[in-house]
Amino acid sequence: MAEDLTDFYKVAEVSDLREGKLYPIEVDGEPVCLVKLEDTIYAFTDNCTHISGPLNQGDFDGCAVTCPWHGARFDVRTGKVLRGPARQDIYTYPVKVEGESIFVGLPPEDE
Ligand code: FES
Repeated sequence: MAEDLTDFYKVAEVSDLREGKLYPIEVDGEPVCLVKLEDTIYAFTDNCTHISGPLNQGDFDGCAVTCPWHGARFDVRTGKVLRGPARQDIYTYPVKVEGESIFVGLPPEDE
């Protein structure tokens, strides 16, 4: 993994999150959604790969988010599509926790 090439942004505090509750944020202008599952925090794009439905407004159950627009489902741990109409996996971001602070990594922009 090229983690050293990733730019990490502080986005929230651990205490902001509740187990299994979707938490929308912006990271350098990108819509991202956080969710805490047991002791791990996951970050994924808040744009459905079908036609950009806001995933943070969907249902969350187990480890899957359901898009509120047409019902596509994705595993938030891996980004994998579990059910259409979306065909493409969602992007998942690296997450670091330091003390109480949560950081999400974006790949550096190409010039
Ligand atoms: S926009 Fe998400 S399923 Fe259509």
